[in-house]
Amino acid sequence: MKTLLSIIFIFLFFWNFSQCPIIPTPSSYKETKGVYEFGIDFPILYKSTFPENLKSYFKSKLHEHLTTDIILHENEIPALVFKKIADNQVKDYYQIKVSSNLISISYTSEASCFCAINSFLQLIYQKDGKNYIKNCEITDSPKFEWRGLHLDVSRHFFTVDEVKRYIDLMAFYKFNTFHWHLTDDQGWRIEIKKYPKLTEIGAWRDSTVNKHYTTNPRTYTVEKYGGFYTQEQIKEVVKYAQDRYVTIVPEIELPGHARAALAAYPEFSCTGEKQSVPGLWGVFDDIYCAKQESIDFNKAILDEVLELFPSQYIHIGGDEAPKERWKKCLNCQKIIADNHLKDEHELQSYFIKQIDAYLTSKGRKLIGWDEILEGGLSPNASVMSWRGTEGGIEAVKQGHSVVMSPGSHCYFDHYQSRNPNEPIAFGGFTSLEKVYGFNPIPKDLNEQEAKLILGAQANLWTEYIPDFKQLEYMVYPRALALAEVLWSGENRPKLEVFEQKLIDCHIPLLQKKNVNFSKAMFYPEITVEQIDGKMTYSLFRPKSKFDYYISTFVNGKRIQLLDANGNEGDSLKLSNNFYGRSNSFGLFPKKMDLTYSISSFDNDICLTYNSFNFDIHNGIGIPIKFLTEPNEKYAFNKELALVDGIQGRIPWNSSEWLGFDTSNVVLEMDLGKVMKLNSLDLSFLNDISSWIHVPQSIEIGFATEEGKWTMGNNSKLSEKSHLELNQKARYIRITIHQNAKIPEGNPGSGHTPWTFMDEIMMDLE
Ligand code: ACM
Ligand code: ZN
Repeated sequence: MKTLLSIIFIFLFFWNFSQCPIIPTPSSYKETKGVYEFGIDFPILYKSTFPENLKSYFKSKLHEHLTTDIILHENEIPALVFKKIADNQVKDYYQIKVSSNLISISYTSEASCFCAINSFLQLIYQKDGKNYIKNCEITDSPKFEWRGLHLDVSRHFFTVDEVKRYIDLMAFYKFNTFHWHLTDDQGWRIEIKKYPKLTEIGAWRDSTVNKHYTTNPRTYTVEKYGGFYTQEQIKEVVKYAQDRYVTIVPEIELPGHARAALAAYPEFSCTGEKQSVPGLWGVFDDIYCAKQESIDFNKAILDEVLELFPSQYIHIGGDEAPKERWKKCLNCQKIIADNHLKDEHELQSYFIKQIDAYLTSKGRKLIGWDEILEGGLSPNASVMSWRGTEGGIEAVKQGHSVVMSPGSHCYFDHYQSRNPNEPIAFGGFTSLEKVYGFNPIPKDLNEQEAKLILGAQANLWTEYIPDFKQLEYMVYPRALALAEVLWSGENRPKLEVFEQKLIDCHIPLLQKKNVNFSKAMFYPEITVEQIDGKMTYSLFRPKSKFDYYISTFVNGKRIQLLDANGNEGDSLKLSNNFYGRSNSFGLFPKKMDLTYSISSFDNDICLTYNSFNFDIHNGIGIPIKFLTEPNEKYAFNKELALVDGIQGRIPWNSSEWLGFDTSNVVLEMDLGKVMKLNSLDLSFLNDISSWIHVPQSIEIGFATEEGKWTMGNNSKLSEKSHLELNQKARYIRITIHQNAKIPEGNPGSGHTPWTFMDEIMMDLE
């Protein structure tokens, strides 16, 4: 036994030992025998081509990554030599070779030198107070050229120092594009000298909505909120990013999301009416008028933007621009008539084409959200695909280049765990695992078309991100998963290996860098189900090497637990799975507090606490037949989700709600015997910006014998619907009617609305 254990131990030791610690994973990493040990003296030879600006970056980061003081100096007989090698046709290729007495870093471009430095820093590890690097040979280059992170500074403002910290860390993980979302409805954040009111008025709002914007009734914090960057500060940030080989792509939103600009200059709207900078999130009808004056206003703004940002791409937004005002505006309608445009979508295209032509004439390239496809894509535009990948695919088929940023995998304002204590987020669910599984190249593209996919980007919308701590929490470690996708592509290791690297090397590194990262990957998952006729909750440990110790409090009392091997106790080690059981429906807890400690961490990850509320009703666990299937993206725990005693959370995180993308939803339930159904309570989600609408009506059918249906009346539905029924039945069929199309004037108009429903609460006798 002892021998077997030692073999396992040696195996594990070697397995860990041969792992490349770098994230994102290099193209090739070969470990060789021995280590390089850092002493006090660290002579460096920078060959003449070494980029001067990188010296200070390298020195300061090296000191940060080493735990002992070293004397770093330039010398012809080096411990580390940097040298430029000929470009070998692979863009941004570099090599690192570490042996016990010499480290050499060879690069083909300045950007690749920067990447090599960051890889080198990640190789350093500590043992017994000393610093080492394992001898190895690395060759590396990126898969995608656009490796982006976005930041919305309109909904919440972040200081220059915070923006720099954001850029510094993303660069360390080999992101090279920072998409700076500088303007939106709730705040204009860039000084424009020609139009000073943009920041005097547009940078400030008087109030900010509390909680989630779908909360009813809405309340506001009435407090002046805002800020902006002066042109000098922008230059400073651009320089800071350049020193890290990060390109800043500024975004100036048009024709929609322009309420802050129109608060300052209402004459560029259709109505000309003065309105304040809104403190509410969402999509607003007031957008720029398509008249020439508004287009010229935007061109003049862009003149100053181009002076500040040397990037090839300039992002002009283009998303979520309702056409309500344009339909009623004489100016807009005249342009439609004079230019023989078909409709307001073509008018949007007309607007953007002029901006495109202007940017092209200045030697730049326009990029916009995928709505810019509507009404015809302008000739030189690139598309950032956010409403899924479909827009991106269409743009590629038309020969345009694309950056993928679909909500499903790249929206870091979505929830990242199913933990009920997760801080409020926009909605949706984008776990670390999901990000890691992203492929920016859709399957339906051929090899030639795939070349038009420049890369991908994660977006950080900040409605629910009030400060920098929360910002880091939403971005890390998910950004590391995306870094792997973008740099290593198909070459990235299996998810388990990535997670292990996080645990071994990068969680400690993020802690050392004082990053407020999310610990979602360590949370156990809970599901509720019926086992042997009893309500049972099961906890599943995440894949990690740590031991979990669980204790559960129900209604304030610590309860006995039962694990999968039949062990009982009030604190149990969480093995692969584990359950707690109640004796009957009636005894199932209304509220359960779960505490778990994770051994092996000697820091604040140790103890975590979740609290679950259950709504107990007689229908828990009854079987449901799905005559309409939920969309697979929103079908978590499908069999039980509607009858698990857990109400869908608002804002939604898609773990309790089932999402249907059909206009009718039909479900059948079998009570097992004829019973009296006194009432049903149903909940529907209303989140119009996410295209989720409360359905119109419901019809309920009853049968005491299979197939012999008696149909009830049609009842109207609301978010919380209570239906008095008083019917005897064994089988119940519910048919939910949704609008066939999202009405005009709403986000996603013309598409089928989503129906999101949760708990079907039953009162049965
Ligand atoms: C977007 O999320 N409205 C681009
Ligand atoms: Zn107009």
